[in-house]
Amino acid sequence: MGQTVLITGASGGLGAEFAGIFAAEGFDLVLTARQTDKMEKLASRLHEKYPVKITVLFSDLSRPDGAKILYEEISERGILIDQLVNNAGAGKAGRTIDISPEILNDLINLNMVSVTMLCRLIGADMERQGYGKILNISSSAALFPDPWFNVYGPSKSFVLALTEAMRGELAGSGVTVTALCPGPIRTGWAENAGKAYPVIAADPRKIARIGYRAMQRGALKVLPTFSTKAGIFFLSLLPDPLKVAVGSCWQRAMIRKEKKNAPAQGNER
Ligand SMILES: NC(=O)c1ccc[n+]([C@@H]2O[C@H](COP(=O)([O-])OP(=O)(O)OC[C@H]3O[C@@H](n4cnc5c(N)ncnc54)[C@H](OP(=O)(O)O)[C@@H]3O)[C@@H](O)[C@H]2O)c1
Repeated sequence: MGQTVLITGASGGLGAEFAGIFAAEGFDLVLTARQTDKMEKLASRLHEKYPVKITVLFSDLSRPDGAKILYEEISERGILIDQLVNNAGAGKAGRTIDISPEILNDLINLNMVSVTMLCRLIGADMERQGYGKILNISSSAALFPDPWFNVYGPSKSFVLALTEAMRGELAGSGVTVTALCPGPIRTGWAENAGKAYPVIAADPRKIARIGYRAMQRGALKVLPTFSTKAGIFFLSLLPDPLKVAVGSCWQRAMIRKEKKNAPAQGNER
């Protein structure tokens, strides 16, 4: 019997690319996000090319119980998950004290609580079946201070630390846990967060392929591109206060660029 992968945030961006890669490799797919119409369209495109089973499920992972509701729905349908891509995530540009508490709460639930709960619930099933692979999408933002884009950076540091700890706990169980830490990727993500992309933003298909391969070989942590590795290396050489200042300049420049690009749309979600 073929394997089944659950991909969160599969309605666009990196998640949709992961869906294409897993379908091409013969996996059955469980795709989840809020925009089910987009996932249905993706599912019919993939069905035309690949003879795999695709289940589309609504989830709102910014709800504190979003992951539990999703897990119960998967279990009720009798679907066993062999591989999990914890991909759904979002950020919000601006100073922490200027962002509404509701938005911050949603981001914390989406980027941390739901990722933890899906690792917990599906990881336990994987351990029982003696096999499983989990890929958690972190970010290069996990590795340096992120003023003007707070909560996002710390949430991705959390995802990285969660991955490393679970990796140790599940050693020898047949279950591997991998973190992917990309730099900027050209999806709709930055605009949704209220900032622009730098010129060097990567192709989402390329990043998804690197993530897929890292997951299949059971790598612990992957920084996917040379520019990300080089950037993190040079930042690591700076004294801490300078890291904060560089992070601040960078994020403010990206926010100003986005305001120039889309003055009519505004930047509030
Ligand atoms: N793009 C970058 O520059 C970049 C860099 C490093 C890391 N990352 C990380 O990579 C992952 C994928 O990002 P992306 O670039 O593909 O972004 P994206 O194009 O904005 O896609 C985000 C996905 O998350 C889903 N999502 C958002 N809020 C949700 C919610 N409340 N409940 C369920 N699903 C939700 C969205 O679907 P719905 O709106 O339909 O719910 C969408 O499918 C994220 O974790 C992001 O933080 C991105």
